[in-house]
Amino acid sequence: MALSKKMCAAINSQITAENESAYIYKAMGYKFEAMNLTVFAKWFHIQAAEEQAHAEKFARYILDRGSEVTLETIKAPKGKWKTPKEICSETLKHEEYITERINKLVDLAREERDHSTDSFLIWFVNEQIEEEASAAELLAMVELAGTLPQIFLLEDRLLRMIGEREQQPAE
Ligand SMILES: [Fe+2]
Ligand SMILES: [Fe+2]
Repeated sequence: MALSKKMCAAINSQITAENESAYIYKAMGYKFEAMNLTVFAKWFHIQAAEEQAHAEKFARYILDRGSEVTLETIKAPKGKWKTPKEICSETLKHEEYITERINKLVDLAREERDHSTDSFLIWFVNEQIEEEASAAELLAMVELAGTLPQIFLLEDRLLRMIGEREQQPAE
């Protein structure tokens, strides 16, 4: 069964939201590079690549359902962050916003009794649990560290976390 026009438009708009997330995380990565916090930067660049993979997953799904992908305009990131804490707290807020969007997609799929889309979206529902948890962990670490020299020392721990993540099997 083909996707409804409404469902297709909603998923297309989620592709934009995922690409926008990638764009925001790239901007955050560059900001961390400017602060010489290169491991934080790496974390955000990896995060950006994951968001692009999410966009791709949604695009593949639309194509698999015999509909068409429409790419929309991506907003420029505001990028006025001054501290690591500001970046990390915006990241958590952004992930909560994405979770809210995914939940609305599930609501729509259920309204339309579109079980295929409902089932497809479960992966994202679960992914958002992880995304929020890792954003919350990063913010907690930065808050705990407090000052910039302490945040600099956090980079070692973050590097180990990146290593552990990379060892996990790919989805
Ligand atoms: Fe995402
Ligand atoms: Fe995310």
